[in-house]
Amino acid sequence: MNRKNEMFDKFYNKTIKERQEILKDLFNLNVENDLNKRLSIEEADKIVENVIAIGCLPIGLLTNLKLNNKHYVVPMMIEEPSVIAAANKACKLSLPKGFKGQALGNEMLGIVQIKTDNLKRTAEKIKENENEINRFGKEVCKNLEKYNGGWRSFYIEELKTKRGNFILFKFLVNTADAMGANIINSTAESLGIYLEQLLKEKVILRILSNYAVKRKVKLEAVFSINKEERELFLDAFEIAKHDIYRLVTNNKGFLNGADAVCLAFGQDFRAVEASLHSYSIENKKPLVNFTEHEDGIKAYAELPIAVGITGGAINVLPHAQTSLKITKPKTASELAMIIGCVGIANNFAATYALATKGIQQGHMKLHSRIIALSLGAKEEEIEIIQKLVENGIIKPKKDEIEKALAEIRKRQKN
Ligand code: MEV
Repeated sequence: MNRKNEMFDKFYNKTIKERQEILKDLFNLNVENDLNKRLSIEEADKIVENVIAIGCLPIGLLTNLKLNNKHYVVPMMIEEPSVIAAANKACKLSLPKGFKGQALGNEMLGIVQIKTDNLKRTAEKIKENENEINRFGKEVCKNLEKYNGGWRSFYIEELKTKRGNFILFKFLVNTADAMGANIINSTAESLGIYLEQLLKEKVILRILSNYAVKRKVKLEAVFSINKEERELFLDAFEIAKHDIYRLVTNNKGFLNGADAVCLAFGQDFRAVEASLHSYSIENKKPLVNFTEHEDGIKAYAELPIAVGITGGAINVLPHAQTSLKITKPKTASELAMIIGCVGIANNFAATYALATKGIQQGHMKLHSRIIALSLGAKEEEIEIIQKLVENGIIKPKKDEIEKALAEIRKRQKN
């Protein structure tokens, strides 16, 4: 166990202050400026419209993600209890090997919609001017070249509809470490003006596609569980492959983790969700495939995830900056892989819990732990209270736990 792992041992048993001290020490963070700093209402007013208040969500840590032999500590921002605990538990089951990951591309796609009375003539004109158009695109995206990004290519598709005929001009740009929405949208608008003049046709829509299939990450891991649990797991997972009602909820298990990381890093989680949902539905299969492995359950996924480590809200949200300082992803693809791993961990953990003891038990256990902690209970007392809740003797409610705690202490005295 290295020092970092050691410091995160039983992290959940530490006080908030102790946890913050560990982060301060390990990641050179300043508690005031990094951990406790909030967005001011004046800053918020510059980000969105009609600002009246600032909302907030808890941020907790996933302490033991291992990806490509590297140990990551990952902030997760979420209001749902058990998600962070479940991610930690699943990541632990993936050790010592952890996850293997690879980025399969880094290109975002934009669309320029051209209305035309003559599809053939417009398509030919585009073909004739291919080099010119590529030169223009390259020039518009020049700034990205120093980051190994930039204009890549374009292709066209013909679309006949009741409202008329259209050429869909689709272009690809490597947006480097930015998520790319702004880059693609401004490139699409510049291209729109250029193509309108070149083709003498009306350009209508100019927009990025959030379907990030040219920006997939490939991930795999094995979660160690025993043979009996494997069978239960695979039976439970099977229905997600055949039933849309289950598929959606199965994928929600993935998104619990993925969204929580996206939120902690100030990402456009709606974009990530849109891409992943469509991908699953287009392929008619769950986001992650789980199969039997001699050591447990093997997870495999190729996931279209577009995120960034620079630009957009990331630069203005204090918690996003802090998350970057903790996890230190060097590229947008690395962050996308981390998000995918956490999604897989939560997807696995949910199915595992559902297939074995159900999710409510764990949920109740955690809930009673939080209440007992808030009442100042010690670890031995918490264990007794959790047992009482588990066995249905008391409910995980503050007044019942308070009474039980007083009773435990009375008995210990006698
Ligand atoms: C709850 O937030 C997520 C689950 O419903 C996912 C699943 O059913 O796999 C537990």
